[in-house]
Amino acid sequence: MSAPTLPRPTAPAAVEERVEAILARLRLEEKLGQMMMGERASTTPDDVRSHHIGAVLSGSGSVPGANAPADWVALNDALWAASTDATDGRAAIPLLYAVDAVHGHANVRGATIFPHHIGLGAARDPALIERLARVCAREVLATGLDWNFAPTLAVVQNVQWGRTYESFSDDPALVAAYAEAFVRGMQGTLDDDGVVACAKHWIGDGATNEGIDQGDAVLSPEALEQTHLPPYLAALRAGVLTVMVSFNSVNGIKCHAHGALLTGLLKERLGFSGLVVSDWDGVDQVADDLDEAIVRAVNAGVDMIMCAADWRRRLIGLAAGVASGAIPMARIDDAVRRILRVKVRAGLLDRVRPAERPWADSETFGSAAHRAVAREAVRRSLVLLQHNDDVLPLRPGQRILVAGKHADDVSHQCGGFSAAWQGTHGNDAIVGGTSIWQGIRTVSPDATLSVDGSAADPQRHDVAVVVIGEMPYAEGMGDIRPGGWITPPLPGGLFTVNLEPYGTTLQLASRHPEDLATIEAIRAKGIPVVAILLSGRPVLIDRELAASQAFIAAWLPGSEGAGVADVLFGAHDVTGVLPLDWPATAPAPDGRAPIRFPRGFGLTLR
Ligand code: BGC
Repeated sequence: MSAPTLPRPTAPAAVEERVEAILARLRLEEKLGQMMMGERASTTPDDVRSHHIGAVLSGSGSVPGANAPADWVALNDALWAASTDATDGRAAIPLLYAVDAVHGHANVRGATIFPHHIGLGAARDPALIERLARVCAREVLATGLDWNFAPTLAVVQNVQWGRTYESFSDDPALVAAYAEAFVRGMQGTLDDDGVVACAKHWIGDGATNEGIDQGDAVLSPEALEQTHLPPYLAALRAGVLTVMVSFNSVNGIKCHAHGALLTGLLKERLGFSGLVVSDWDGVDQVADDLDEAIVRAVNAGVDMIMCAADWRRRLIGLAAGVASGAIPMARIDDAVRRILRVKVRAGLLDRVRPAERPWADSETFGSAAHRAVAREAVRRSLVLLQHNDDVLPLRPGQRILVAGKHADDVSHQCGGFSAAWQGTHGNDAIVGGTSIWQGIRTVSPDATLSVDGSAADPQRHDVAVVVIGEMPYAEGMGDIRPGGWITPPLPGGLFTVNLEPYGTTLQLASRHPEDLATIEAIRAKGIPVVAILLSGRPVLIDRELAASQAFIAAWLPGSEGAGVADVLFGAHDVTGVLPLDWPATAPAPDGRAPIRFPRGFGLTLR
């Protein structure tokens, strides 16, 4: 399908005029409704119409109908029609529909799924990121949606953090270069061919003590400025329209209530004129009393309240805060002005209904062309950590055994935020891609699959590829907490969501002894092993390294497992380098550890 003809973006002065004209007409209840974001499952078109809801989201795994692009288009079409219903003197303001297309539109059946951010960091190529974001934007547009909660701009400091894979790198300069490219690719020229991007999570999410998700980041002014701010400056430079607040605290103050960071730094000092959205019921965490929490968060600078389920309760709280005078009307007007500004700048007010938009339900969704870009990203994200005895590249004539629990599992390749929040298992939930095994078999049709390696036979196999690693996880459920599962209390009686973490050690052989057992059983038969690690972060792998000839860190490559075969058989050299330091031991609470392989490390074959 060729690109549709695109209108020119609206000039800023015209934007402001339009915003003020709409704002002047809005009744209080319309303003407060605009500040609410409801979740799909608890927000009907009637709700949108009767309460003037400004935005709807799909939480990860929350999908309409049969989860085909057409189901999404139909859903947003119905919501859009409700939001623009101008009967009874209502203001017709199109709503924004948001999703987490953080590594492709991975909630939707048949989407192209890219490597998670950490793998993309290994490619060190902002131009690639811009192309990926463009492809991702087209797939979001194919489902008729408007807003993507991406990119994550965390600069990870402790790999025990469960969201390490959402960070491009521990190098602020690389995250900044990627931030700019991603926002450009996602938003395009902010018209029918663009999707509103969201820089998240403001700020310091990657710096919490012990890497505990939603924990406290103790940040000096220098660390804030030099490490965590640069990616946001880059995203702002690229014109990012929205910023999401982080669940974590900074120096003991929850970001959702941190006026100095939300209003003082982001809006006033950096001049951010777009909207600040809270994270998933994140407002609730700033005070024991929900009404008080809403007042504090909105006064600190939250413009739109993301609600997991009960938006009604939060709308009542917001209205009560205004009625009591605890939230000044000027603050409400500022928040609504920002929301309207985003809608006008995104061209939303001039767009036709979702079902009639140029890319709606187009065949570009999950297309071969899109998958080719993802496959390129996979091969460029691979990092060769060890290479002995010239086992690589493999030759198609060789007799290849493919083993390991992740060898034939597209879901495991994709990790969290894919089909479901915590990810899923097997080859059915994610359609249209290839497992690593399928990619190898295409090049070498006589290769044998034996997941547990028991079929290994030196008479029949010249070499084995063993795909090992972590199981899918997301957010705090990926944390490694050496001290066990108790979340240390935050200062000031604040709380954090205590999700059951992944484990107590980064040592792969302790968490997943089955991987080492598979490698060692194959090696014991005298067959050389090429190990491929799927993981959301560096893990401690000394024993697995010692037992294999070659070792590749493949991160979480996504739906296009064939990109691994592209490198294994030498069709392309391996060019990825580590996007962060790979520790030799468990890190200290501040994330520091002796280094096994430094950032920038990566062997090549040529
Ligand atoms: C995550 C955000 C995400 C939001 C909506 C939260 O749990 O922290 O990154 O955008 O859910 O799905």
